[in-house]
Amino acid sequence: MLAALGSAIGLGNIWRFSYVVGENGGGAFILVYVVAVALIGLPLLIAELAIGRRTRAGPVKAFARVGPRLPWRWTGWFGVVGALCILAYYPVISGWVMRYLWVYAFGSVPDAAGLRFVPGFEAYVASPGPSVLWTVLVIVIAGSVVAFGIERGIERASSLLMPVFGMIILVLAGHGLSLPGASHALEFLFIPDWAVLERPVTYLAAVGQAFFSIGLAMGILVAFGSYLPPGINLPRAAIAIAGGDTLVALVAGLIVFPAAFTYGFDPAQGPTLAFVVLPQVFAAMPGGRWVAVGFYLLLLMAALTSVIALLEVLVSLLMAKVGGRRLGAALAATMAALLLALPSALSYSILRRVFAEPLVERMDHVSSNIVLPLSGIAVSLFAGWVWPAAEAVKAAGLPQRWPSWLWLWLLRFLIPLAVALVLLGGLGVFLDNPSVARGLR
Ligand code: TRP
Repeated sequence: MLAALGSAIGLGNIWRFSYVVGENGGGAFILVYVVAVALIGLPLLIAELAIGRRTRAGPVKAFARVGPRLPWRWTGWFGVVGALCILAYYPVISGWVMRYLWVYAFGSVPDAAGLRFVPGFEAYVASPGPSVLWTVLVIVIAGSVVAFGIERGIERASSLLMPVFGMIILVLAGHGLSLPGASHALEFLFIPDWAVLERPVTYLAAVGQAFFSIGLAMGILVAFGSYLPPGINLPRAAIAIAGGDTLVALVAGLIVFPAAFTYGFDPAQGPTLAFVVLPQVFAAMPGGRWVAVGFYLLLLMAALTSVIALLEVLVSLLMAKVGGRRLGAALAATMAALLLALPSALSYSILRRVFAEPLVERMDHVSSNIVLPLSGIAVSLFAGWVWPAAEAVKAAGLPQRWPSWLWLWLLRFLIPLAVALVLLGGLGVFLDNPSVARGLR
């Protein structure tokens, strides 16, 4: 259970959740998000785990085995594309985390006001050398883990550390609630501003965030399901994963938003939000530097396991399709990841003038709000219509009667329709959505 949670928890809960909530106006978005997790994320999570456990195969093979006819046998490829899209920028954000860890552990600590950190961060992302360096470091570390085949060990170590991470973020949330901006933050997070619901992009952002944070529609959970022992109660495991992941995100919100309001940051500033707000929190805490070291170390672990899992998608694919040894495949995958991530690492420096919106942010939006929803529609139709219902329900280990009825109905009708509508609506607004066109300010 801890290992499963470990694979879901990552930058998505801390970095991405907070900035997406901030961009989309707070409380009403969170409501939509929780509904999306329950009605879309959870049933898909059960479906992916079930397909994996049933076939004991990686995503591409698993789908082809359950639905051998065209075009369904290709369903797993959507996930591969999704994983590659995320691999093209996730290491860059992980690099930010690593750089913060280094600064807190060995660098000159930000002064009491923490203010030096914001310009420091902007200077960092704006200089091509350091951004590329940290990104390369992340990819090389993840690549070595995959090359030597020790990812299960790392996964286990990181899942053992996740409870410690949970404790640190609970302490930080407690500290957040003691800040003067806390009541404003609670209002922002839990009192819905219904006007947000009139923007179709709110729903798309919620669905995209649910996919990203749970790790859905990337084939990863199919692979994960293939390691599940047969005895495990799959629906219960899925509820724990989706619920735990959401809980961690909400707790992270209690760290970021009280601080944002206390120290006067714009919660809608975009992907840099957590990275400029958190240093203020650590600066104001007694012993904050060491809390920061613990926090960034564990966040880095969580981020690295994600990069490892994403690389593993590519490695197992290369080994299956091209053949060859793990070491060679890992080397090729690492090189590919370096090339893929290089443009994103230059987002705020060399490529800043080329794209209106920094490339990392564009990649993040396109992956979560277009690629993953498309893949999710495919998985949902596949599990609902292509997989024989009796077999699917049995593989999922759902009780007969209403839970299995509801699950199938959601997969067949609600999820494909809702996600398709949300996608179309969101894309229409996409073009002139100010939050999409915004760069680093
Ligand atoms: N769910 C992870 C997070 O919240 C992100 C993620 C996306 C991921 N795709 C993944 C993790 C693939 C592992 C594998 O940060």
